[in-house]
Amino acid sequence: MDASQHHREFFVLPTPQCAAQKASSLFSTRIIQAVAERRKCMIALAGGSTPRMLYTALAGAVGDCDVPWDSVHVFFSDERDVPHDHVDSNYHTAQRTLLDFVPIPPQQVHPMPADSADLTAAAESYEQAIRQTVPSNGGEIPRFDLVLLGVGADGHTASLFPGGEAIEETERLVLSPYVPSLGRHRMTFTLPLINAARCVMMFVTESDKASVVAEMFGPQGQASSAPAARVCPSAGEHMVVLDSAAAQKLAPALRSSAS
Ligand code: 6PG
Repeated sequence: MDASQHHREFFVLPTPQCAAQKASSLFSTRIIQAVAERRKCMIALAGGSTPRMLYTALAGAVGDCDVPWDSVHVFFSDERDVPHDHVDSNYHTAQRTLLDFVPIPPQQVHPMPADSADLTAAAESYEQAIRQTVPSNGGEIPRFDLVLLGVGADGHTASLFPGGEAIEETERLVLSPYVPSLGRHRMTFTLPLINAARCVMMFVTESDKASVVAEMFGPQGQASSAPAARVCPSAGEHMVVLDSAAAQKLAPALRSSAS
């Protein structure tokens, strides 16, 4: 493995369902650990369709493991420019598969206002909410205990898309870029905020992601132009949870990673 991968821990499971169960177990463990150490846990949820299985697994475990959900604060690493009750909203997905089933106080759930009429002001406001809620532990940038990310087949993560200006941002923590490939605006965490996290978990399944996974985590990974390849928490864990379909083009050593 090249040097950058020493920061990364791979988990490859036979099926999407097994991968979701593994991700759920890792996710729960980090919430329990954060609350034990700091009395609360700051998480950022991912959007798209892949996390639905993970959210369902987390919700399904609520009866049989002691995750202190009442001490968890939920933000979102990106959001679409739709109302929060829209089927395409990442908040809507998380609400219907996880948040409706776990006892997180409503005031501790922070949907992203990505459908605001003034997206610049809305992004600044969301950044302020993060700065006021998420401790930075002496640093400049608030440190999430856990940031969950998916990866698009084009290598995007959160709403940091190839060629987008948001990927190069070094100061602001939340932006609302126009995404030409979508013809829409998004709201998204930037790399400084993602890479300040104590733990980043990438959860990627299905064969349509095999090529981008191999590009990002293969021998040429450091040369990858994929925005997701630039996720590398400087002082945190980077867990990559894959099913075998998404991992199928990785080197055998990685394909047989811990499961
Ligand atoms: C979004 C996501 C995005 C997602 C990838 C993968 O709002 O779409 O946050 O970054 O993680 O597009 O999406 P799938 O899980 O649907 O493949």
